[in-house]
Formats: sequence, C-alpha cells, structure tokens
Amino acid sequence: MMAFCIHENKWPWGNTVNVISSRAEACVQLSFEDENPGVCFLSGLSVHTDFRRKGYATKLMRFCEKQCIERGIFRIDLCSVQTDYVLEFYKKLGYSPIKEENGFIKMYKMLESTSSKSQWKPSENQMKNLFGTFNHSLM
Ligand SMILES: CC(C)(COP(=O)(O)OP(=O)(O)OC[C@H]1O[C@@H](n2cnc3c(N)ncnc32)[C@H](O)[C@@H]1OP(=O)(O)O)[C@@H](O)C(=O)NCCC(=O)NCCS
Repeated sequence: MMAFCIHENKWPWGNTVNVISSRAEACVQLSFEDENPGVCFLSGLSVHTDFRRKGYATKLMRFCEKQCIERGIFRIDLCSVQTDYVLEFYKKLGYSPIKEENGFIKMYKMLESTSSKSQWKPSENQMKNLFGTFNHSLM
C-alpha cells in the first residue's frame, strides 16, 4: 500500500491541498474554490521519470478522488497537456474531455459516490467559465 502526505493551505479564495507520495515519486495539487463548492480543480500531476509506468499516478489519483469524496466534492476538473499518452492516462481513469484550447484539453470526472449528480454535463456558459482561472494563466 502506498502512503501519501497531505499539506493544506488556506487562501482568501479557498484552499489548496498538495499531495505527495511518501518517497516523493509522485505529486499533485488539488484546489477548492469557495465560489465553486463541490468542485475540485486538479493540477500539477507529475511522476518522477524513474518511477513512471509503475502505477504511481493511478494510485495518487485514486487517493485524491477518495479525499475529494470525503470532502463532499462531486466533480473534479483538470486541464491536461494534449499529449496522446497523457490523454490515454486520464481517459483510463474515467475523465471526459470537454474542450480543446491552445494545445491543452479540459477534462472532468463526476465522482461515483454522487451518482445522483452523475448526469451533469457542462452547459455552453459553464464551458466558457469552468476554467476561468486557468485561462488567465495563458495570457
Ligand atoms: C502522465 C503521468 C503522470 C503518468 O504517470 P505514471 O505513474 O507513469 O502513470 P501510471 O503508471 O499510473 O499509468 C496508468 C496508465 O496510463 C497510461 N500511460 C501512462 N503513461 C504512459 C505512456 N508513457 N505511454 C502510454 N500510456 C501511458 C497507460 O494506459 C497506463 O497503464 P499501463 O501502464 O498498465 O499500460 C507521468 O507520465 C508524468 O508525470 N508525465 C509528465 C507530467 C505530465 O504530463 N503530467 C500531466 C499533467 S497534465
């Protein structure tokens, strides 16, 4: 069983949680914005090159999803580089693409424990606003 360390920071807009595997093979950041309750934005997933294709990212993502469910989160959003193997990785974990933009692809996953909300699909307006913070970083 893999162990993970969690470090949480509170910010004026919400909080971030950094999750790192016990020997620093893999890490990721989860952001929870007060104005977007129930939704987590996942970013910075990275596995050290020496440890790739050994299931570290999969285990880290599953750990994060469990953490999210415990926090009452029903949806995880992320923005992935548009590289075939990375897309393959996220799709295998159940993430669906929403929109492609500037070489990135926006994806989301409804978490299983909230099956009553699993029919959620982003509206046109939500698609525009869903990743507003990320869009600013492109400027
Ligand atoms: C993407 C990344 C996080 C995957 O980490 P990982 O620990 O190697 O992933 P896993 O071992 O859990 O892989 C799970 C599945 O994803 C797919 N996958 C992962 N890496 C792959 C690769 N290089 N080529 C093809 N498929 C790949 C495979 O289907 C794999 O299952 P398999 O090994 O049984 O075939 C890692 O390659 C990485 O850190 N890349 C650089 C940073 C990055 O692009 N992060 C994504 C941010 S958007």
